[in-house]
Amino acid sequence: MNIALYPGSFDPVTYGHLDIIERSAKMADQLIVGVLRNKSKVPMFTVEERIEMLKEVTKTYSNVIITSFDGLLVEHAKKCKASFVIRGLRAITDFEYELQMSQTNRILYPDMDTIFLNTDLKYSYLSSSIVKEVALLGGNISEFVTPYVKELIDAKLKDGE
Ligand code: COA
Repeated sequence: MNIALYPGSFDPVTYGHLDIIERSAKMADQLIVGVLRNKSKVPMFTVEERIEMLKEVTKTYSNVIITSFDGLLVEHAKKCKASFVIRGLRAITDFEYELQMSQTNRILYPDMDTIFLNTDLKYSYLSSSIVKEVALLGGNISEFVTPYVKELIDAKLKDGE
């Protein structure tokens, strides 16, 4: 079976991520989304909240599974039996960092390859931080996230008032 792993922070998941999920779910027999327990970023949503959010927005894809991980990506890939990792490239500025990661991962785990998908042009400027900033400043984020994710962001911001 052809298993792919799509890792990231997804804090929150945006239409840009969903575009990558939709396209890679067509390429793999099974697509495993891996939510990183990232200690270097201060998140808006807990990992558990992000997992629930991702489950909801991917529920129409029968071959997508949501997981979380900490530590090395290659260890999670081994555990999931994933033979390739999916990464989205938004712009040339992503390339250097992504190449460095994929080269390192290949040395750590030569059986795993990285496949890069160009992010849909519509979302090439997007990041989770931008979404959070626009929401925080009272802007409309409905072009960036699903109505369900928007509701969760609105509720978080209300809680924080
Ligand atoms: N559409 C919209 N936004 C996108 C996007 C897309 N297609 N692709 C990436 N982004 C945004 C994300 O929202 C995120 O925004 P933020 O910084 O505002 O939160 C940003 O781009 C970074 O992407 P993301 O994938 O979330 O995180 P990352 O680049 O920090 O990488 C891992 C995450 C999991 C791949 C990487 O940190 C990792 O492998 N960690 C494990 C430790 C490890 O193995 N290290 C050695 C590897 S060399």
